[in-house]
Amino acid sequence: MRIETLSVFPEMFDSVMHASILGRAEERGIFSFAAFDLRDWTHDRHRTVDDEPYGGGAGMLMKPEPLMEALDDLESTGPRPHVIFFTPCGEPFTQRTAERLAGEERLLLVCGRYEGIDERVYARADERISLGDYVLTGGELAAMVVADAVVRLLPGALGDEMSAQDESFSAAGLLEYEQYTRPASFRGQDVPPILLSGDHAKIAAWRRANALERTCRWRPDLIEHADLTDEERERARELIARNAAGAAEGAAATDCGVV
Ligand code: ADE
Repeated sequence: MRIETLSVFPEMFDSVMHASILGRAEERGIFSFAAFDLRDWTHDRHRTVDDEPYGGGAGMLMKPEPLMEALDDLESTGPRPHVIFFTPCGEPFTQRTAERLAGEERLLLVCGRYEGIDERVYARADERISLGDYVLTGGELAAMVVADAVVRLLPGALGDEMSAQDESFSAAGLLEYEQYTRPASFRGQDVPPILLSGDHAKIAAWRRANALERTCRWRPDLIEHADLTDEERERARELIARNAAGAAEGAAATDCGVV
Protein backbone atom coordinates (compact mmCIF):
# COMPACT_ATOMS: atom_id res chain seq x y z
CA MET A 1 0.00 0.00 0.00
CA ARG A 2 1.02 3.58 -0.62
CA ILE A 3 -0.16 6.33 1.74
CA GLU A 4 0.23 10.01 0.86
CA THR A 5 -0.78 13.12 2.74
CA LEU A 6 -1.36 16.62 1.45
CA SER A 7 -1.18 19.37 4.07
CA VAL A 8 0.51 22.61 5.05
CA PHE A 9 2.39 20.87 7.88
CA PRO A 10 4.07 17.84 6.30
CA GLU A 11 6.63 17.78 9.11
CA MET A 12 3.89 16.80 11.58
CA PHE A 13 3.98 13.28 10.10
CA ASP A 14 7.72 12.72 10.61
CA SER A 15 7.77 11.02 13.98
CA VAL A 16 4.44 9.19 13.94
CA MET A 17 4.75 7.66 10.49
CA HIS A 18 8.32 6.45 10.91
CA ALA A 19 8.25 5.17 14.51
CA SER A 20 7.25 1.90 16.12
CA ILE A 21 5.01 -0.51 14.18
CA LEU A 22 4.46 1.94 11.31
CA GLY A 23 8.21 2.51 10.98
CA ARG A 24 8.91 -1.22 10.96
CA ALA A 25 6.15 -1.87 8.42
CA GLU A 26 7.60 0.81 6.18
CA GLU A 27 11.11 -0.68 6.48
CA ARG A 28 9.73 -4.08 5.55
CA GLY A 29 8.07 -2.61 2.45
CA ILE A 30 4.53 -3.33 3.72
CA PHE A 31 3.61 0.26 2.89
CA SER A 32 5.34 3.37 1.62
CA PHE A 33 4.62 6.91 2.76
CA ALA A 34 5.04 10.46 1.46
CA ALA A 35 3.91 13.75 3.04
CA PHE A 36 3.37 16.45 0.39
CA ASP A 37 3.51 20.16 1.20
CA LEU A 38 0.49 22.00 -0.21
CA ARG A 39 2.55 25.20 -0.46
CA ASP A 40 4.54 23.57 -3.27
CA TRP A 41 1.46 24.20 -5.42
CA THR A 42 1.25 27.95 -4.74
CA HIS A 43 2.59 30.58 -7.13
CA ASP A 44 2.94 33.75 -5.03
CA ARG A 45 5.87 34.99 -2.98
CA HIS A 46 4.08 34.28 0.32
CA ARG A 47 3.03 30.77 -0.72
CA THR A 48 -0.58 31.61 0.23
CA VAL A 49 -3.00 28.73 0.81
CA ASP A 50 -5.89 30.58 2.52
CA ASP A 51 -8.31 33.43 1.87
CA GLU A 52 -11.32 35.18 3.46
CA PRO A 53 -14.73 33.54 3.20
CA TYR A 54 -17.33 35.10 0.87
CA GLY A 55 -20.22 36.43 2.93
CA GLY A 56 -17.95 37.36 5.81
CA GLY A 57 -17.40 35.63 9.10
CA ALA A 58 -14.47 34.76 11.27
CA GLY A 59 -11.41 32.89 10.13
CA MET A 60 -9.86 31.94 6.85
CA LEU A 61 -10.64 29.21 4.34
CA MET A 62 -8.27 27.09 2.30
CA LYS A 63 -8.43 28.47 -1.23
CA PRO A 64 -9.21 26.08 -4.07
CA GLU A 65 -6.34 26.63 -6.53
CA PRO A 66 -3.38 25.02 -4.67
CA LEU A 67 -5.51 22.05 -3.58
CA MET A 68 -6.94 21.48 -7.06
CA GLU A 69 -3.53 21.74 -8.72
CA ALA A 70 -1.94 19.41 -6.18
CA LEU A 71 -4.71 16.87 -6.72
CA ASP A 72 -4.33 17.17 -10.52
CA ASP A 73 -0.60 16.45 -10.23
CA LEU A 74 -0.79 13.69 -7.66
CA GLU A 75 -3.63 11.92 -9.47
CA SER A 76 -1.79 12.06 -12.81
CA THR A 77 0.88 9.58 -11.74
CA GLY A 78 0.70 6.01 -10.44
CA PRO A 79 -2.42 4.05 -9.56
CA ARG A 80 -5.58 6.08 -9.04
CA PRO A 81 -5.57 7.18 -5.38
CA HIS A 82 -8.55 6.81 -3.08
CA VAL A 83 -8.92 10.44 -1.98
CA ILE A 84 -10.03 11.16 1.59
CA PHE A 85 -10.75 14.61 3.03
CA PHE A 86 -10.79 15.08 6.81
CA THR A 87 -13.55 17.22 8.24
CA PRO A 88 -15.94 17.10 11.22
CA CYS A 89 -18.69 16.96 8.56
CA GLY A 90 -17.50 13.55 7.34
CA GLU A 91 -18.62 10.00 8.06
CA PRO A 92 -17.47 8.84 11.52
CA PHE A 93 -14.30 6.73 11.32
CA THR A 94 -14.74 3.15 12.58
CA GLN A 95 -12.82 -0.12 12.54
CA ARG A 96 -14.98 -1.15 9.60
CA THR A 97 -13.75 1.90 7.66
CA ALA A 98 -10.16 0.96 8.52
CA GLU A 99 -10.73 -2.59 7.26
CA ARG A 100 -12.19 -1.32 4.00
CA LEU A 101 -9.36 1.20 3.47
CA ALA A 102 -6.74 -1.50 4.14
CA GLY A 103 -7.84 -3.02 0.82
CA GLU A 104 -6.93 0.11 -1.20
CA GLU A 105 -3.74 0.27 -3.22
CA ARG A 106 -3.13 3.99 -2.71
CA LEU A 107 -4.62 6.43 -0.19
CA LEU A 108 -4.33 10.20 -0.58
CA LEU A 109 -5.22 11.90 2.72
CA VAL A 110 -6.09 15.58 2.32
CA CYS A 111 -5.79 17.60 5.53
CA GLY A 112 -7.64 20.89 5.94
CA ARG A 113 -6.60 23.74 8.22
CA TYR A 114 -8.10 27.05 9.33
CA GLU A 115 -11.91 27.22 9.24
CA GLY A 116 -12.24 24.70 6.42
CA ILE A 117 -11.88 24.24 2.68
CA ASP A 118 -13.61 25.95 -0.25
CA GLU A 119 -16.61 23.68 -0.87
CA ARG A 120 -15.81 23.18 -4.56
CA VAL A 121 -12.70 21.17 -3.72
CA TYR A 122 -14.77 18.46 -2.02
CA ALA A 123 -15.90 17.34 -5.47
CA ARG A 124 -12.49 15.65 -5.64
CA ALA A 125 -13.11 13.50 -2.54
CA ASP A 126 -13.95 9.81 -2.72
CA GLU A 127 -15.03 10.17 0.89
CA ARG A 128 -15.01 12.58 3.81
CA ILE A 129 -14.01 11.23 7.21
CA SER A 130 -14.58 12.65 10.68
CA LEU A 131 -12.68 11.37 13.68
CA GLY A 132 -15.49 12.31 16.04
CA ASP A 133 -17.80 15.06 17.20
CA TYR A 134 -15.15 17.58 18.13
CA VAL A 135 -13.09 20.10 16.20
CA LEU A 136 -9.37 19.66 15.67
CA THR A 137 -7.09 22.46 14.50
CA GLY A 138 -6.45 20.53 11.31
CA GLY A 139 -6.79 17.20 9.56
CA GLU A 140 -3.20 16.03 10.15
CA LEU A 141 -3.90 14.24 13.42
CA ALA A 142 -6.97 12.62 11.87
CA ALA A 143 -4.83 11.44 8.93
CA MET A 144 -2.29 9.92 11.32
CA VAL A 145 -5.00 8.12 13.26
CA VAL A 146 -6.44 6.68 10.04
CA ALA A 147 -2.99 5.71 8.71
CA ASP A 148 -2.14 3.98 12.00
CA ALA A 149 -5.43 2.06 12.15
CA VAL A 150 -5.08 0.99 8.50
CA VAL A 151 -1.39 0.05 8.41
CA ARG A 152 -1.61 -2.24 11.44
CA LEU A 153 -4.22 -4.28 9.52
CA LEU A 154 -1.90 -4.90 6.55
CA PRO A 155 -0.60 -8.48 6.40
CA GLY A 156 2.69 -8.75 8.29
CA ALA A 157 2.51 -5.30 9.93
CA LEU A 158 1.94 -6.62 13.44
CA GLY A 159 4.10 -9.68 13.20
CA ASP A 160 1.51 -11.76 15.05
CA GLU A 161 -1.41 -12.11 12.61
CA MET A 162 -3.82 -13.10 15.36
CA SER A 163 -3.52 -9.97 17.40
CA ALA A 164 -5.37 -7.79 14.87
CA GLN A 165 -8.28 -10.22 14.69
CA ASP A 166 -8.94 -10.85 18.35
CA GLU A 167 -9.28 -7.37 19.70
CA SER A 168 -11.97 -4.79 20.39
CA PHE A 169 -14.39 -4.19 17.50
CA SER A 170 -13.04 -7.09 15.44
CA ALA A 171 -14.19 -10.08 17.49
CA ALA A 172 -17.97 -10.07 16.98
CA GLY A 173 -18.18 -6.31 17.49
CA LEU A 174 -17.52 -6.53 21.24
CA LEU A 175 -14.94 -4.75 23.36
CA GLU A 176 -11.85 -6.80 24.09
CA TYR A 177 -11.75 -9.02 27.20
CA GLU A 178 -9.59 -8.11 30.21
CA GLN A 179 -5.94 -9.16 30.02
CA TYR A 180 -3.33 -9.74 32.71
CA THR A 181 0.36 -10.52 32.91
CA ARG A 182 2.61 -11.47 35.85
CA PRO A 183 2.52 -11.26 38.83
CA ALA A 184 -0.61 -13.34 39.54
CA SER A 185 -1.25 -11.28 42.67
CA PHE A 186 -0.42 -7.58 42.78
CA ARG A 187 -1.23 -5.06 45.49
CA GLY A 188 -4.13 -7.16 46.70
CA GLN A 189 -5.61 -7.79 43.26
CA ASP A 190 -5.58 -11.33 41.88
CA VAL A 191 -5.67 -12.43 38.27
CA PRO A 192 -8.92 -14.39 37.60
CA PRO A 193 -7.89 -17.96 38.54
CA ILE A 194 -9.30 -19.49 35.35
CA LEU A 195 -6.56 -17.73 33.35
CA LEU A 196 -3.96 -19.66 35.35
CA SER A 197 -5.74 -23.00 34.85
CA GLY A 198 -4.23 -23.95 31.50
CA ASP A 199 -7.71 -25.08 30.33
CA HIS A 200 -7.92 -23.41 26.93
CA ALA A 201 -11.61 -24.11 26.32
CA LYS A 202 -12.58 -22.62 29.70
CA ILE A 203 -10.30 -19.64 29.12
CA ALA A 204 -11.90 -18.98 25.70
CA ALA A 205 -15.39 -19.19 27.26
CA TRP A 206 -14.38 -16.84 30.09
CA ARG A 207 -12.93 -14.35 27.62
CA ARG A 208 -16.08 -14.35 25.52
CA ALA A 209 -18.29 -13.84 28.60
CA ASN A 210 -15.96 -11.14 29.89
CA ALA A 211 -16.02 -9.31 26.53
CA LEU A 212 -19.82 -9.41 26.62
CA GLU A 213 -19.95 -8.08 30.20
CA ARG A 214 -17.49 -5.28 29.48
CA THR A 215 -19.40 -4.23 26.37
CA CYS A 216 -22.69 -4.17 28.28
CA ARG A 217 -21.05 -2.07 30.97
CA TRP A 218 -19.05 0.43 28.89
CA ARG A 219 -20.55 0.43 25.40
CA PRO A 220 -24.09 -0.98 25.48
CA ASP A 221 -24.71 0.82 22.17
CA LEU A 222 -22.50 -1.80 20.45
CA ILE A 223 -24.66 -4.74 21.52
CA GLU A 224 -27.38 -4.20 18.93
CA HIS A 225 -24.98 -4.88 16.02
CA ALA A 226 -22.75 -7.41 17.79
CA ASP A 227 -22.57 -10.97 16.47
CA LEU A 228 -24.10 -12.87 19.43
CA THR A 229 -25.81 -16.19 20.06
CA ASP A 230 -29.43 -16.08 21.29
CA GLU A 231 -28.19 -17.00 24.75
CA GLU A 232 -25.61 -14.20 24.74
CA ARG A 233 -28.20 -11.69 23.54
CA GLU A 234 -30.49 -12.63 26.42
CA ARG A 235 -27.60 -12.34 28.87
CA ALA A 236 -26.70 -8.92 27.40
CA ARG A 237 -30.28 -7.74 27.93
CA GLU A 238 -30.09 -8.79 31.59
CA LEU A 239 -26.72 -7.14 32.15
CA ILE A 240 -27.75 -3.87 30.53
CA ALA A 241 -30.99 -3.79 32.54
CA ARG A 242 -29.06 -4.53 35.74
CA ASN A 243 -26.47 -1.82 35.00
CA ALA A 244 -29.24 0.69 34.24
CA ALA A 245 -31.05 -0.17 37.48
CA GLY A 246 -27.78 0.16 39.40
CA ALA A 247 -27.06 3.52 37.80
CA ALA A 248 -30.58 4.72 38.60
CA GLU A 249 -29.97 3.93 42.28
CA GLY A 250 -26.67 5.77 42.05
CA ALA A 251 -24.94 2.53 42.84
CA ALA A 252 -23.59 1.30 39.51
CA ALA A 253 -20.94 -1.34 39.85
CA THR A 254 -17.53 0.27 39.61
CA ASP A 255 -15.90 -2.43 37.53
CA CYS A 256 -17.11 -4.12 34.43
CA GLY A 257 -16.62 -7.62 35.72
CA VAL A 258 -20.02 -7.56 37.42
CA VAL A 259 -22.04 -10.69 36.86
N1 ADE B 1 -10.63 18.39 11.17
C1 ADE B 1 -11.05 19.13 12.20
N2 ADE B 1 -11.78 18.41 13.06
C2 ADE B 1 -11.83 17.15 12.56
C3 ADE B 1 -12.43 15.94 12.99
N3 ADE B 1 -13.15 15.86 14.11
N4 ADE B 1 -12.28 14.85 12.22
C4 ADE B 1 -11.58 14.92 11.07
N5 ADE B 1 -10.98 16.02 10.61
C5 ADE B 1 -11.10 17.15 11.34
